[in-house]
Amino acid sequence: MITVPEFKKKKAKGEKITWITCYDSSFARILNESPIDVLLIGDSSAMTMQGYDSTIHSTLPAIAGFVNAVSKGANNKFIVADMPFLSTRRSLESGVNAADTLLKAGAHAVKIEGIRGNEKLVTHLVESGIPVVGHLGLTPQFVNAFGGMKVQAKSAEDQDLLMKEAKLFEDCGAFSLVLECVPSKIATQVTQLLKIPTIGIGAGNEVDGQVLVLQDLLGFNPNFKPKFLRHYLNGYELFKGAFERYHQDVVNGNFPNDQESYSS
Ligand code: KIV
Repeated sequence: MITVPEFKKKKAKGEKITWITCYDSSFARILNESPIDVLLIGDSSAMTMQGYDSTIHSTLPAIAGFVNAVSKGANNKFIVADMPFLSTRRSLESGVNAADTLLKAGAHAVKIEGIRGNEKLVTHLVESGIPVVGHLGLTPQFVNAFGGMKVQAKSAEDQDLLMKEAKLFEDCGAFSLVLECVPSKIATQVTQLLKIPTIGIGAGNEVDGQVLVLQDLLGFNPNFKPKFLRHYLNGYELFKGAFERYHQDVVNGNFPNDQESYSS
């Protein structure tokens, strides 16, 4: 299992770091046997697992439940859990309690969207032994403020701000930084500025690692194909085909056969 100190070492050696989201123990068991470095229990679970239209609906008990399931299936993987919407904003104490809940559920680190207003919490968590990952660029918890899921940091002014906020995350003690949907050029500049590894999703190829949502890379929703996404499987057709074959076998009387039935 990758450890927190190894993240910086991997960056220094130019070794890419691979992340994927995971929300259940079945996929966690498969991923535990894969070379993927990090499993992220993202608040995208509100969308992929719970059917909501944004991550605003993610809750601490829901994320903790997914973390618990994943940690049971993947005992050999570094697990990062998202701090859900507003969990970092109510007070320092409630932020600490939320992080505590996620670590007790099985996470090794927490991810926080945005640094402005979170500086004290990030510093306090890090000083308390809770590793923190930052998340900048298109931070989906700000979907309403952004006016939709749009590429961020396009203007010179916003790029300047992104550089400053990235450095602030590092200075507050974050050990890694997710950059979502920003132009490759600015993601490269942030990557060159920081000692901690940057993990991109829609941030080009010059970052220190990549993260994708499991359901997206497996092609479970063929209609969801943003520019940055590569489908590694036509999961929708494959799974649908299996369900159809099962249905046909049952209605045709071909399942179960004698080998699949108990004799007395
Ligand atoms: O919630 C999530 O899945 C994420 C990734 C997209 C980085 O935060």
